[in-house]
Amino acid sequence: MLDRVVRYLRCPHCACTLTASRRTLFCPDGHSFDVARQGYVNLLPRPTKLTADTKDMVNARAAFLAAGHYAPIADALVELLRGTVDTSLSGCVVDVGGGTGYYHAAILDALPQAEGVLVDISKFAARHAVTAHERISAVVADTWQELPLHSEAATVVLNTFAPRNAPELHRILRRRGVLLVVTPRGDHLREIIGPLGLMRVEDRKEDRLAGQLEPYFTAVATDRLKATMALDHPALTQLVGMGPNAWHQNAHNLTKRISQLPRWSDVTLAVTVTAYRPLVSPSTTTRRRSTA
Ligand SMILES: C[S@@+](CC[C@H](N)C(=O)[O-])C[C@H]1O[C@@H](n2cnc3c(N)ncnc32)[C@H](O)[C@@H]1O
Ligand SMILES: [Zn+2]
Repeated sequence: MLDRVVRYLRCPHCACTLTASRRTLFCPDGHSFDVARQGYVNLLPRPTKLTADTKDMVNARAAFLAAGHYAPIADALVELLRGTVDTSLSGCVVDVGGGTGYYHAAILDALPQAEGVLVDISKFAARHAVTAHERISAVVADTWQELPLHSEAATVVLNTFAPRNAPELHRILRRRGVLLVVTPRGDHLREIIGPLGLMRVEDRKEDRLAGQLEPYFTAVATDRLKATMALDHPALTQLVGMGPNAWHQNAHNLTKRISQLPRWSDVTLAVTVTAYRPLVSPSTTTRRRSTA
């Protein structure tokens, strides 16, 4: 797959165009990157100290998403896409912090001519993502460094529940492209936060994240999605295991807390899905950090 998207990729050391030969990507300056047996390529310029999602987290996410609990989010993304781009377009859809590739696959289904590049810092996510859709190629890279993609490589950029580096998202997106973002709201998962000891979504998070994108993008369509999910104990275990709470929860303690809940829990899904256009002249060049 990588040879179909290699023209969108650039060397993380010297920013030159890469070319594919057998199972290696090369740049003219002599840097080379082996394609892993599982079909993804690691384009990190140097090892990172950032903590990547583990195999268990990726498996939990894949199982939870496959059950369809977040399908309304995928549907909302596709609807915003259809309202903002010509779905016969070819080109590249880049999913930054794309995880298992669940939303990326839904977007590619709606864009039959497009190719996908999924970027994630977790090799386990990258391994899973290449199995999520035949047109997804996966790259291990860090969103807080320069992404190994050419400027204006992407027709669509996707960023769901993942860290967002607004200047880099802006740099890789074509001027007539669209950025699709999913952000949890304060009442997302509210019924289980107390009982399961989860971290709360801060109330102003949505505004804060929108503020960080604003110097670079302008919102053109928004869907404030709200639904109720019926989750049993295995689904709750996956939901906690796939997210940031997995770092902070003791597994035994979590199992005990889940066992004390009724067999089924009604849990609120509350996220905002927004389509942004890039501003031609961003109003700042300051680099800021944010996490969804
Ligand atoms: C909460 S998950 C969301 C995954 C996917 N976008 C989804 O919505 O299903 C966050 C993802 O961001 C990735 N991630 C975290 N820090 C990153 C970084 N610095 N660069 C690239 N990816 C990162 C994680 O490995 C994980 O797959
Ligand atoms: Zn190079």
